[in-house]
Amino acid sequence: MPSEQAAVIGAGHTRFGALAEGPRALLRECVDLAVTSVDRGLERTEVDEAYLGTLGFNGWQIGNASAVLAEEARLVGAPVTRVENACASAGFALRAGIQAIESGQRSMVLVVGLEKMTDAASRRRRYWLGVSGDTEWERLAGLTFAGVYGLLASRHMHEYGTPPEALAEVAVKNHAHALKNPKAQFRKAIRREEVLAAPRVADPLGLLDCCPVTDGAAALLLTSVARARRYTDTPVRVVGSGAASDRLAVQERESLTSLAASRRAAAEAFRSSPWDRSALSFAEVHDCFTIAELIALEDLGLVPAGGAAAMTLAGETRVGGRLPVNPDGGLKAKGHPIGATGASQAYEVFLQLRGQAGERQIPGAARALTHNVGGSGASATVTLFEAG
Ligand code: COA
Repeated sequence: MPSEQAAVIGAGHTRFGALAEGPRALLRECVDLAVTSVDRGLERTEVDEAYLGTLGFNGWQIGNASAVLAEEARLVGAPVTRVENACASAGFALRAGIQAIESGQRSMVLVVGLEKMTDAASRRRRYWLGVSGDTEWERLAGLTFAGVYGLLASRHMHEYGTPPEALAEVAVKNHAHALKNPKAQFRKAIRREEVLAAPRVADPLGLLDCCPVTDGAAALLLTSVARARRYTDTPVRVVGSGAASDRLAVQERESLTSLAASRRAAAEAFRSSPWDRSALSFAEVHDCFTIAELIALEDLGLVPAGGAAAMTLAGETRVGGRLPVNPDGGLKAKGHPIGATGASQAYEVFLQLRGQAGERQIPGAARALTHNVGGSGASATVTLFEAG
């Protein structure tokens, strides 16, 4: 058992999209927003450790990006570590921050996620996305990320009869949710027929089944539950944390319809949690492609294997449904700046569990989950949060 329990007491988030600002300005903005969000104020000298989740897309400060965070957060002198686990970089940075608090070694930790992707030309983009998958057997053979998830979608359809309409519904729902998120990249409703008729990217996935290429950053401030009430009356407690890995190349994995890393991370997170899946108010899951959201619901144990399509088509995952999923628009519509996503998901939880999510507030939201996947499933984190 940890000697302390961690709590989030502040959070900040830039807009997501194709942004004019560079990485330094994005870091500065999200950290400033996180610091000013602390209800009773925080001196930066109180932060005694920081973690930065980033892939370093397009070669930006591929070495020592952590020093840039130290400068822009005005924390020079404090230890800052860069964490890189592809699209799960910030999920793992958050886990490192939670562990630093739980061990009792640190009293205030800053966790930041960042990516600046839209500056790269499309050929370079494919390279930088590809380096998060297997290089020898996948990337050099021409398999893209959309290609990998296209394979998973085909197999899911084959094994469970998952209809294309269920994939399309994930995109329709997440675009509808993003309409109410002022920080989202796409604030545009789409119809199921448009998703089904969109140009193919990697069959059976079309353009509207894919997350976009995005710039953005998000920051979280963590302290212990014991100290949290010095800063706010409404901390958000971390009640479970799990992380796991899997083989890098999809052909080495045990299944094409499930990500073992997600299943393992969820099992670990729920093992230490005081409540079970049925108590969740909502979930933030890693929907980099529409099929990924369906697989996530099954891997996280929120529905039996093969059941996510029916759950989605029945509207259960919409805000207002039985278990809202991705109320901020998800990676699909809010956007997916690779290294920032895990922190962005926790930012949404922070708002929702404090009743500060505005137009998209889920009434009575009290318990939530974030699920962040690295690459095509080689790593994953699951974090459980509770209000108060
Ligand atoms: N969803 C909805 N619309 C999208 C979109 C997406 N994912 N990606 C691009 N668009 C829109 C753009 O807004 C633009 O619309 P406009 O003409 O009205 O301005 C249009 O489609 C063309 O945009 P462009 O940037 O030229 O598209 P592209 O063909 O270069 O890229 C993808 C499209 C799907 C290939 C790209 O978004 C992609 O690679 N996504 C996946 C990223 C990824 O793999 N991340 C890691 C996941 S693990």
